[in-house]
Amino acid sequence: MHSLSTLAFLIGALVVSGGYCHREVETRSLDQIYEAAKAEGGVVTLWAGGDEKDQQNKLKDAFEARFPDITLNLTVDLSKYHDGRIDEQLAAKNLYVDATFLQSLHDFPRWKSQNALLNYQPLEFKNIFDEFKDSDGAYYGVFILFWSNIWNTDKIDAASAPKEYTDYLKPAFKDKLALTYPNDDDAVAFQFDLIIKQYGWEWFDDLIAQNPHWVRGTATPSTLLSPSLNNVYGATFTSEIGLASSGSLNISFPTKGQFVSWPQTGAIFADAPHPEGAKLLTNFVLSDEYQKASGWSVRRDLPGPSGYPTIFDMPGTNVTAFRDFMLDRAAVERLRFRFEDKIGTAQGFSPLVDDL
Ligand SMILES: *[C@@H]1O[C@H](CO)[C@@H](O)[C@H](O)[C@H]1NC(C)=O
Ligand SMILES: *[C@@H]1O[C@H](CO)[C@@H](O)[C@H](O)[C@H]1NC(C)=O
Ligand SMILES: *[C@@H]1O[C@H](CO)[C@@H](O)[C@H](O)[C@H]1NC(C)=O
Repeated sequence: MHSLSTLAFLIGALVVSGGYCHREVETRSLDQIYEAAKAEGGVVTLWAGGDEKDQQNKLKDAFEARFPDITLNLTVDLSKYHDGRIDEQLAAKNLYVDATFLQSLHDFPRWKSQNALLNYQPLEFKNIFDEFKDSDGAYYGVFILFWSNIWNTDKIDAASAPKEYTDYLKPAFKDKLALTYPNDDDAVAFQFDLIIKQYGWEWFDDLIAQNPHWVRGTATPSTLLSPSLNNVYGATFTSEIGLASSGSLNISFPTKGQFVSWPQTGAIFADAPHPEGAKLLTNFVLSDEYQKASGWSVRRDLPGPSGYPTIFDMPGTNVTAFRDFMLDRAAVERLRFRFEDKIGTAQGFSPLVDDL
C-alpha cells in the first residue's frame, strides 16, 4: 500500500515537473529525420507570424531545396490572429498545424501549461541562448527579428541621416515618415514605449506634429520607401530590411536610444499531425546553414553577422526585454489605448488582405 502511494506521488511529481516523461532529445542526423518525415507523408504545416504572405518564402525555398520530397505548407499571418485560430483548433481537438513561429511570445508558456506543446530538444538545443528557450524544449527562439532606422538616401540628404529617435523631429522628416500604428502591432508598441520612456510623451506629440503617414503592417513602411514607388516617404523606424544598405535604402541603429529586437519563437504541437516533418523543420532552421544566412543567430556558438557582434553584445538593444513586455498584457493594453486616443484606430487594409 505504502509503496503504491509513493509510486503514485512519484509519477505525479514527474508529470508536474514539466512533462519530464515526454521530453524527447534529438539524436538523429538531419538526413535520418528527413527519411522519417518522408515516410510520414512528406508535408509539414507551419503557421508563421508576419505581415505579408511572401514574408517567409526564403525559408520555404531553402527548406524545400534542401529536402525536395517535403512540402512546407506555409501560412503567414499576423501572430495576434494565428494564435487565436490555433486556440480554436486546440479547443476543438482538431489540430492541423504542426509547428508555429510567432512574435506573440506570451502564448508559449500558456500553451506549455496546457500541455499543447511537444517537449522536444532539437540537435542544436544546447547551443541556443538559455534566455530564448524553455528548459524542456517546449519552445525556443528560431531567429532574431528587430526594427532599425531605414531611409531612402535619394529623399533624405546624408547630413540628415537618422540615428537617434530625436532625429525624426528635425524639419528634414516633416511629412516624410512612414510608420506602423503602434496600436496595431505589439513589437511596434514596444518600440514607441522604449522611446517614450526615454524622451517622454512630448517626443510623441512632437512626432505627430511631423505628420507621419500611419500604416498597417511592419513591412509596409519599408515598401513605401522603395525607389520604385514615386512618393514623398523617406524614412521609418518600424520596419526591417536586414543588416546592410540595399540600393538607395540605408539603415542605422541608435546607440543612445533602444531599438527593439526579439527571438521569434517556435514550437511543435504535441498533437501535430506531422511531428517528423515539424522536427525536420525546426532542426533545419536551427542548423548552421540556416542560422548563418539569417542575420543575428539565436545560437551562442555562432558569431555575429558580418560587421556586427552577437545580439547580446549589440549596443542599443535588449533582446530579452520584449518577452517581459509581452507577458504583461494589462500594460500592453493600457499603452495601446493611449496610442489609439492620440492617433486613432488603425485605418486601411492589412497588407495581407490588399496589396499596396
Ligand atoms: C496546409 O495548410 C492548410 C492551412 O493551414 C490546411 O488547411 C491544409 O490541410 C494543409 N495541407 C496539408 C496537406 O496538410
Ligand atoms: C549608410 O549610413 C551609414 C551611417 O549609418 C553611413 O556610414 C554609410 O556611408 C551609409 N551608406 C550609404 C550607401 O549611404
Ligand atoms: C534586459 O531586459 C531584461 C528584462 O526586461 C532585464 O531583466 C535585464 O536587466 C535587461 N538587461 C540589460 C543589460 O539591461
